Amino acid sequence: MTSELLQKARDFEAQYGPHIPGSERPAFHATPTIGWMNDPNGFSFYRGECHLFYQYHPYSVEWGPMHWGHLKTRDFIRWERLPIALAPDKDYDAAGCFSGGAVELPDGRQLLLYTGVRRGHNAEGLLQDVQTQCAAIGDGVNYEKIPENPILDGKDLPEGGSTVDFRDPKVWQDPDGTFYTVIGNRTADGSGAILLYQSRDGLRWEFIGTLDRSRNQYGRMWECPDFFPLDGRQVLIASPQEMNPVGLEFHAGNGTVCLTGDYAPGGAGFTRRSVQAVDYGLDFYAPQTLLTPDGRRIMIAWMQNWGTVGAKPYHCRWFGQMTLPRELSVKDGRLYQNPVRELEHYRSCPVTHHSIPVCGEVNLPGVQGRVLDMTIRVRPTGGALYRWFRVRVAKDGEHETIIRYRPSDGTLKIDRTRSGLPHDIVHTRSFLVRPQNGEIKLRVILDRFSVEVFVNDGEQAASTVIYTRQEAQAITFEAGGSVLLDVEKYSLAFDN
Ligand code: FRU
Repeated sequence: MTSELLQKARDFEAQYGPHIPGSERPAFHATPTIGWMNDPNGFSFYRGECHLFYQYHPYSVEWGPMHWGHLKTRDFIRWERLPIALAPDKDYDAAGCFSGGAVELPDGRQLLLYTGVRRGHNAEGLLQDVQTQCAAIGDGVNYEKIPENPILDGKDLPEGGSTVDFRDPKVWQDPDGTFYTVIGNRTADGSGAILLYQSRDGLRWEFIGTLDRSRNQYGRMWECPDFFPLDGRQVLIASPQEMNPVGLEFHAGNGTVCLTGDYAPGGAGFTRRSVQAVDYGLDFYAPQTLLTPDGRRIMIAWMQNWGTVGAKPYHCRWFGQMTLPRELSVKDGRLYQNPVRELEHYRSCPVTHHSIPVCGEVNLPGVQGRVLDMTIRVRPTGGALYRWFRVRVAKDGEHETIIRYRPSDGTLKIDRTRSGLPHDIVHTRSFLVRPQNGEIKLRVILDRFSVEVFVNDGEQAASTVIYTRQEAQAITFEAGGSVLLDVEKYSLAFDN
């Protein structure tokens, strides 16, 4: 039965959502119907279609009592809107339906596993969250919370585990039929751990063990875990809060870590072998992955940064968007990410330039626009090594977003200082890249409100939100010294 709170939220988004014209949204990145969006939830296939739920507060462009918004897609590029799936309408989730996952049950119904949050008093009498895991079952549109909720609570935690920070179950089913979920938890040392549970039916769960923990090294509380095998390695992804910077690999604040290692299926033991950041840009958090029927591991994330969510355009009617979904692979122990291949179906109007000598700033015929897919290769001319190379996108007389590569120290820098956000927030991020024979390859995906850069065929990715006015369409290339440049640029065409 649809509760009053859920009906009210559904009516609200149905009434006001359509007022936002397509031109005020990204052309192909997922956005909320109206209001606020954060983490992707329940990113999974159900009855042959890809569903994406999201943390949602429809009533304002600020975070508030969390609902689950709902989208689905056939190709990861075009998103169809569905009515809100969950509202915080029970005692055990009155303070919010926080992040979680989804999986198809053997009887053909869809299970949503999410964190129910309520407020309770602690031993000192202060109000704090009580986080438990809850289930709702449905048909792909409507969901019923089950009477047994909550199905995992404080008594299911290992010793020292916190009931204040116990959240974000990601769920999947192994080929042998067993269901698993990984959940973030705060441990007695104040830092994060990822817990593994298993179930025969998706509803009754048993704790198996702790997969890995922060030990206060990679941030504190670990949110939004994911755990999957890929190319012979096991991958554990988590989004830590309160990270300390580590060189150019991790920046301060909320980050995303990818641990790769070894794992014996069904057991709790995960042996960590490598640690890296997932995205090196300004806006990326809480990623989730799914496995496609054709065997690809696809990841999507919230393209935002908790530290900068106060910086939004005046009068915006939606806030928060998802990244372009990415195809993942592991090579030499590193996570690689590339735009989902379905994007190529929307390419049109190819423009190519080959071995263009660049010294100073140039623009190239046919290379401009705000909704496009462009690959550039920059290489030394054979003479003196160039000092730097810059691509400026979303540019007019006042605005620009700069991607700068400097070979002397191998850094790539994204700079959105002049990208439509007149707020005193972090606007630049630098990271180390690995040129191959002095050559760097960048695939730059522009949508109306974002820049996503994929370096050297997916070795690194960097996503950044911009709000530059859409008239700023110019793109220029500039070298300090001289370089040879190849450009392959496509417009991306949609009907919105
Ligand atoms: C991560 C997060 C999750 C939580 C959700 C609440 O961005 O803090 O841990 O479930 O957002 O909206």
